[in-house]
Amino acid sequence: MRAVSISLLLPSLAVAASNASVGVMGTTGYPPCDALISAGLGDRVLLATSDAYETRVQSYWHANGRIHPYCFVEPYSAEEVSTAVKALASAGQGAGDWHIAVRSGGHHLPATNNIVDGVTIDLGMMNSSRYIADKGIAQVGPGAKWKNVYANLLKNGNVTVTGGRDGDVGVGGFLLGGGNSYYSGRNGFGSNAVVGYEVVLANGTIVEATVDQYPDLWKSLKGGLLNYGIVTRFDLQTMPAVDLAYGLNVLTYNYSSQVSDALVDFTNNMEQRPDDHMFILYTDETSSGDGSMMILPIYVNTKGDLNTTSFDEITKIPSVVSSWERMSLAAAANASQVAGGTKNVQRTLTLYNDAAILREATRLHTQLVATLDEKVGSENYSTQVVFQPLPAYLSTLGLRNGTMSNVLGLERIGSNAILWTAAVAITNGDDGALAVAGTELSALLTQLEKFTSPDGKPSTAEWVYSNYADMSQDPLTSYGPENVAFMKEMAAKYDPEGFWQKRVPGGFKLSRV
Ligand SMILES: Cc1cc2nc3c(=O)[nH]c(=O)nc-3n(C[C@H](O)[C@H](O)[C@H](O)COP(=O)(O)OP(=O)(O)OC[C@H]3O[C@@H](n4cnc5c(N)ncnc54)[C@H](O)[C@@H]3O)c2cc1C
Ligand SMILES: *[C@@H]1O[C@H](CO)[C@@H](O)[C@H](O)[C@H]1NC(C)=O
Ligand SMILES: *[C@@H]1O[C@H](CO)[C@@H](O)[C@H](O)[C@H]1NC(C)=O
Ligand SMILES: *[C@@H]1O[C@H](CO)[C@@H](O)[C@H](O)[C@H]1NC(C)=O
Ligand SMILES: *[C@@H]1O[C@H](CO)[C@@H](O)[C@H](O)[C@H]1NC(C)=O
Ligand SMILES: *[C@@H]1O[C@H](CO)[C@@H](O)[C@H](O)[C@H]1NC(C)=O
Ligand SMILES: *[C@@H]1O[C@H](CO)[C@@H](O)[C@H](O)[C@H]1NC(C)=O
Ligand SMILES: *[C@@H]1O[C@H](CO)[C@@H](O)[C@H](O)[C@H]1NC(C)=O
Ligand SMILES: *[C@@H]1O[C@H](CO)[C@@H](O)[C@H](O)[C@H]1NC(C)=O
Ligand SMILES: *[C@@H]1O[C@H](CO)[C@@H](O)[C@H](O)[C@H]1NC(C)=O
Repeated sequence: MRAVSISLLLPSLAVAASNASVGVMGTTGYPPCDALISAGLGDRVLLATSDAYETRVQSYWHANGRIHPYCFVEPYSAEEVSTAVKALASAGQGAGDWHIAVRSGGHHLPATNNIVDGVTIDLGMMNSSRYIADKGIAQVGPGAKWKNVYANLLKNGNVTVTGGRDGDVGVGGFLLGGGNSYYSGRNGFGSNAVVGYEVVLANGTIVEATVDQYPDLWKSLKGGLLNYGIVTRFDLQTMPAVDLAYGLNVLTYNYSSQVSDALVDFTNNMEQRPDDHMFILYTDETSSGDGSMMILPIYVNTKGDLNTTSFDEITKIPSVVSSWERMSLAAAANASQVAGGTKNVQRTLTLYNDAAILREATRLHTQLVATLDEKVGSENYSTQVVFQPLPAYLSTLGLRNGTMSNVLGLERIGSNAILWTAAVAITNGDDGALAVAGTELSALLTQLEKFTSPDGKPSTAEWVYSNYADMSQDPLTSYGPENVAFMKEMAAKYDPEGFWQKRVPGGFKLSRV
């Protein structure tokens, strides 16, 4: 009798004793973390007392996103994601008051992908990519970084995919929000090129959504964010990997008017030249540190044609520095990793493609800099404003057999436009400085929205891109009433209990639309 009970007790005591981060009897005192351990995921749970935990916290791009959950759970497979979801769902309704977050690459805005009171499901270990030659697709894990996806597909298959430009951005968030790529002129947003999704639904069921199976789920994942399930694998249409022609110039700020004209012109011609891509970054973050604003046009021909004439208007403007060379997408993505680690605020708008509107946006940026110099101190912050072409024809690239195969509602913009983002990074200062920057940025937004061009056109389209939007903005509503109705119907169908709405509150939620 005694011998039996000792042998039953010993193994669990041995495990508990060997692990400093899990207390006696394997309980942490945090109900959701305990539920994960009881479900057999003890090896996948990171408590704050383990070394790997802080590394994961620090891997978030925004410093203000580096918050500390009760624990991370790092699943390695769809089955483990399913186990985690089921365990967390049955760990109660969140009483006292704990919730769940989900992350892939960790580049989205703070609190969409991490949580203080609760558990973060960290998909960072699901980061493999694999070329399936006979199907012409790549199977990519949500936690992969684009630089690694490109490098792997280049080496194993000599193919590539419609993904991010900054190599450190994650696959999961990028593709669920849309995804603006060097290849968007040809293929539209990256989500267009997703032929299949493996998804863990709220009840733990794993389904594959394609144009043939669960086509409604397949469509609603193209822009619909975390409202239906956790995507555990993306099947992406591949293309031959051709080295890019890649250019980067640095211009002094006094050429901004010519830059606006060149960008408007380029955007109006994109449909005829879908392999050419350009965007313009304005920043006062210069290596000289003198606070002067510089303009950086970045321009790419995805077929590697160094003779393209598409960029003549921009490259004829005198530059301080310029480069124009061939390189693989893998190399370009590796070289284009914008360093994170500052506390940031960011907003986005969709501007109509009109030089007067772009000039006004630029004027407001310089006004913002003057205000922040005074209120935050020129040495304590930097700004980044980016203008990216969003020509009207891009919406038609989402058509399949005559109907729209995504929920983005890009067709509502109705004419050529510019995706505009403005960000302020607090390089030295506290949350008070961050709040000042956010308030000034919101004020700038209302000024820009009020502006009408000389011919009486409004400056902004009512379309907000979720991947760049602040939490004070409302992208899902901007996708239009039909898409909202469809997305709500899908959320009710695939998540009748509203698990993703109630238990995973971060990010843009249909229940709040
Ligand atoms: C430096 C920088 C460069 C960028 N460049 C581009 C660009 O070139 N083009 C562009 O379009 N955007 C770009 N973005 C924006 C980027 O697309 C978004 O931030 C995107 O959300 C990042 O994806 P992630 O996996 O890294 O994000 P995460 O923060 O990990 O996730 C974003 C959101 O998606 C949810 N989510 C993540 N994975 C899953 C999943 N597998 N299943 C369900 N929900 C999930 C998360 O809960 C979170 O709400 C850039 C952002 C930064 C900071
Ligand atoms: C101890 O916990 C860590 C995470 O907190 C886990 O990686 C490890 O596998 C656990 N070890 C044992 C023996 O349970
Ligand atoms: C996946 O992530 C792990 C942990 O960060 C890392 O060691 C590994 O190199 C990554 N693999 C790929 C293919 O990126
Ligand atoms: C890879 O594909 C490109 C484009 O088809 C081709 O030009 C190149 O020669 C290929 N490289 C290898 C190593 O096969
Ligand atoms: C812009 O400034 C540069 C040097 O700062 C000068 O050489 C150039 O002539 C100026 N151009 C215009 C259009 O003002
Ligand atoms: C580009 O121009 C150079 C020199 O004029 C020529 O040798 C090369 O073949 C051209 N390349 C393409 C892709 O047309
Ligand atoms: C990525 O960029 C870094 C820094 O520029 C460089 O040292 C490294 O060799 C690059 N890696 C690849 C695979 O290109
Ligand atoms: C810049 O930040 C430092 C420290 O955060 C602060 O002491 C200083 O007053 C700030 N400068 C201005 C002009 O506000
Ligand atoms: C295209 O749409 C038509 C009618 O809407 C339908 O009959 C046909 O099967 C569709 N084709 C494909 C390939 O989906
Ligand atoms: C899980 O949810 C889906 C979508 O609501 C449903 O079709 C399926 O039957 C459910 N599975 C189980 C086991 O309840």
